[in-house]
Amino acid sequence: MKKEIVNIMNDISSWLRYQKQLGVESISMGSELSSFLNHAVQSKASSQKLTSINEYKDEIPAETDLAGLRRIVENCKKCELYKKRRNTVFGEGPENAKMVLVGEAPGKEEDIQGRPFVGPSGKLLTDMLNAINIFRKDVFITSVIKCRPPCNRTPGHEEIAACFPFLRHQLRLINPPIILALGLVAAQILLNEKAPLKSLRGRFHQWDNARVMVIYHPAYLLRLKGSQQLDCKRVAWHDLQILEKEYDKYR
Ligand code: URA
Repeated sequence: MKKEIVNIMNDISSWLRYQKQLGVESISMGSELSSFLNHAVQSKASSQKLTSINEYKDEIPAETDLAGLRRIVENCKKCELYKKRRNTVFGEGPENAKMVLVGEAPGKEEDIQGRPFVGPSGKLLTDMLNAINIFRKDVFITSVIKCRPPCNRTPGHEEIAACFPFLRHQLRLINPPIILALGLVAAQILLNEKAPLKSLRGRFHQWDNARVMVIYHPAYLLRLKGSQQLDCKRVAWHDLQILEKEYDKYR
């Protein structure tokens, strides 16, 4: 695979920024590379201000139902991601679900199947839900971004700005009492917060009529190793138990 250096550097810088916001404090590497990347991370972070939720332009007719919205998403060309997608991944689940799960963006398997969370992180997500007696068929699962970013990189500001109105419309139509934000991108966008995930998780926030719980993204849990993975899984388990209590009110 050939890739321009500037694209590689952008991917590395956004990955590093993501790790930083997740709370990863250090990564071992040579000092020259390290100081170069530090500069790239800082300048990119300062150019990516978090847009207020109301600034995401919404051109979706108010009367559009979920089926209509799915068709709009399938034909969307608002950002560059449409060029490489095999399928859009709109999301799936009951229209009257009591909980909507919001991930970041489809990965390889999701792009192939056109369904959310069907790859390795989807398997972990399903197991996490089952552990608190919640089943996929009962919840609506979607992501902030509906097309796969190349190489699973973190979605860029323009892509989020283009795609967020679809999620907002989905949430307004389903109107769930609970939203589960999976990972930093979903959490920061929904809560309009720039804080790291570790300071947002573990408690409920408000979004319109819904209570929003933030947990570690299953893909992040899968990427961690050793004791760091165990610690974060323990934390995720704690958060899932809080979620279960809230969800019980609507069973
Ligand atoms: N990660 C996400 O955030 N969404 C998916 O659909 C799959 C993986």
